[in-house]
Amino acid sequence: MEPTLPQLINRPLTIGGRTIPTRLVLAPMTLLGHVAFRHLLDDLGGCGLMFSEMCGAARVPHENRHTSACFRWRDAEAGRLSIQLLGGNPEKMATAARRVAAEGLFGVDINLGCAVKAICKYNQGAALLQDPKAAAALVGHVRRSVDCPVTVKFRTGWRDDPHLPVDLARRLEDAGADALTFHPRVAPDVRTRPARWEYIARVKAAVSIPVFGNGDVFDAGDCLRMFRTTGCDGVALGRLAIAQPWVFALWGGGPPPPPAIFLETTLKLIALLERYFDPTTGLRRFKRHGAYLASNFAYGNTLYNRIRNAPDLASVRATLTGFFEAPPRLLSRPNLNLLR
Ligand SMILES: Cc1cc2nc3c(=O)[nH]c(=O)nc-3n(C[C@H](O)[C@H](O)[C@H](O)COP(=O)(O)O)c2cc1C
Repeated sequence: MEPTLPQLINRPLTIGGRTIPTRLVLAPMTLLGHVAFRHLLDDLGGCGLMFSEMCGAARVPHENRHTSACFRWRDAEAGRLSIQLLGGNPEKMATAARRVAAEGLFGVDINLGCAVKAICKYNQGAALLQDPKAAAALVGHVRRSVDCPVTVKFRTGWRDDPHLPVDLARRLEDAGADALTFHPRVAPDVRTRPARWEYIARVKAAVSIPVFGNGDVFDAGDCLRMFRTTGCDGVALGRLAIAQPWVFALWGGGPPPPPAIFLETTLKLIALLERYFDPTTGLRRFKRHGAYLASNFAYGNTLYNRIRNAPDLASVRATLTGFFEAPPRLLSRPNLNLLR
């Protein structure tokens, strides 16, 4: 009999000599995967490893870990947190990686996927996919600079050709990467076309290090299909993790959460944002989460518009309490228009 989703998820996985307990992990997400959200996720349970928001390598060596916007964590999560570094200069990346390693975090993740123009123009993120040899050399340099796991997150490349990620994955493995997260989309595509999961299967078959599949997993059926059809070693959840952070525990075999989970979890997130950020930053960050919360419901855009216009977190609380008084209709899959 084929393994069930909880059986697939609840298998420890060793990455560069360190073992994670489950194979469902949090994908890196700027302005969403922050310390407050990860605290919430930790309390809900089931997430095997968390990738931080991307952090600019040039800044990491000088950041104050208690106040930094992205290079900030709780001691309790250090062993399950990998910091994603963004940068194109091997020496700066290595220096940043050494700081991450010295802090005793799980590992370092290298961003080869961010296709934002303002980043690519500095030859960082997805721009590095244009020169696979140089990208692999950068990863190799970081690898030799630290003894913690070094992982890489990458996209297909700048053309829709499966040979590109297969070739790059082999080069990254040869350069010493300990695991890969692969998001099978071309660099200029901002999640408009479906992710090409068949490319994940090709990448997985090409290397012997663990491969996390990523892209367009929106329910348990998607997750099971991603495991089964690609043979990936684990799944990295992005947008759905923000919309429904309890799915890590649920898909791992936990009890179904009560309908009140949406309101309870969101109020808890607000309290955590207030704890970790000043009121203006907390509100700004929550507004981003608001789109993901709203994506779960029919007429969610009404909720999202109210959140977007709220002057402070107290008004957000009142809006939420009002919205959930009459149970809103839950969609079977989140509304993708709100998840761009
Ligand atoms: C708002 C947002 C921010 C993101 N920031 C990052 C990032 O900092 N680093 C990165 O490698 N990928 C980033 N991504 C890409 C995600 O990690 C992931 O590859 C993508 O969302 C597809 O996965 P999903 O369909 O599960 O969301 C971001 C995605 C979103 C939606």
